[in-house]
Amino acid sequence: MATRQLTVDRERSTERIGRDVETLSGPRYTSSDEAIRRYAYTPEYRNTLDYFIRELESLGFERYEDPVGTLVARNRPRGEPVFGVGSHCDSNRNGGRYDGTLGVVAALEICRLNEELGLGLPLQLVSFLEEEGSGFGQMLLGSRIMAGRVTEEELREGFRAVDDGRSFWEHAEEAGYDPGRWQESARVLDDLYGWIELHIEQARVLQDTQKRIGVVDAIAGYVHSDVTVHGRSDHAGATPMGLRLDAGLVAAECMLKLERLAKAAGEGTVGTVGELALTPNLINAVPGTARFSLDVRGPNEEAFRRVTRNLAAFAEEAARRRGMTAEYRERQALSPVALSGGIVGALQAAAEGSGEPFVRMHSGAAHDTMSIAGRVPSAMVFVPCRDGISHSPEEEADPADAALGAEIMLNAINTLSAGTR
Ligand code: GLV
Ligand code: MN
Ligand code: MN
Repeated sequence: MATRQLTVDRERSTERIGRDVETLSGPRYTSSDEAIRRYAYTPEYRNTLDYFIRELESLGFERYEDPVGTLVARNRPRGEPVFGVGSHCDSNRNGGRYDGTLGVVAALEICRLNEELGLGLPLQLVSFLEEEGSGFGQMLLGSRIMAGRVTEEELREGFRAVDDGRSFWEHAEEAGYDPGRWQESARVLDDLYGWIELHIEQARVLQDTQKRIGVVDAIAGYVHSDVTVHGRSDHAGATPMGLRLDAGLVAAECMLKLERLAKAAGEGTVGTVGELALTPNLINAVPGTARFSLDVRGPNEEAFRRVTRNLAAFAEEAARRRGMTAEYRERQALSPVALSGGIVGALQAAAEGSGEPFVRMHSGAAHDTMSIAGRVPSAMVFVPCRDGISHSPEEEADPADAALGAEIMLNAINTLSAGTR
């Protein structure tokens, strides 16, 4: 199935990708002066979708949004097979310019090149809703809805906005969507015969090994959960040390225990307490409750599940020893995902054809691709980001690497599509 390597003007692609990223970093596209911050159903997010829609419509793509707001644009009528490209354009609350957005920009560039080079490839671009969980504390929400990995009860009641506590359902309706039809989101995948997502690596492997491209063949799984410790709030000056039920101390013990458990588990297992909320959160009050999040991940499901179970048991025991109680509650979990050998092989051949240094690797971060890989043969392409920094306004990536990534993806799609036309 070898096809001729396509000749792409990388400089022109680099310039266009750089311009897209620059535009989408402007004040219309973020609600913070200090970081990129945009998430579902906010004006900044809407402006970002509209930017992509304008660009795609100028290429003759038809677009629609699924019942909850994932953007889909295609150059063939629904019902005809298409190859999928895209990522997400919402950001971490303390986000940079590249996480997610670069993947949608690279997908747009593929659509432009397809047009310019007259390739006639059938394409569908997808920009998933709420990958980061910035709006509702639920990572990969749009793609999990699409994969049927949520319940209606969660969408109606369980998932609540970080900003105002109102339900996902209410927010989606207010934004003009039709969450009652959420199950129809699955139809977005009906015609896809393959899927590739480009993303910044969010680690330092590519930089440290001087590679420009990572061909991703697996994605680590994760558990997200919360532990709440119930103690008693007291006066911080008047209450002797021996008479306290300080919930914050149990949280502190658990944070250190998580580090020990994750290190002992090995096999790429990592554990993080990223959210810590003490009540009443006052300098002169003993914390009466402590809630902290757990983010435990790795390529070995048995290992990261064991760490999570052991930490939950430790929290109960540590609270009990101090005369308190602790409860553990899972938010969501996804198993590690092996990506499609066929798509990975085509990407590897295209990367070899480019003559640029690349490596095969797994992803430690989660991506929407892991939600849909069970239904559509999928793979990912990573490009380096400076010093591996991500989920930070300091995030930096080179548009020239994204242009190379787009070229490699285009070549892989061209090869994979040869058999279908
Ligand atoms: C996604 O942003 C993740 O945290 O893996
Ligand atoms: Mn991302
Ligand atoms: Mn992210």
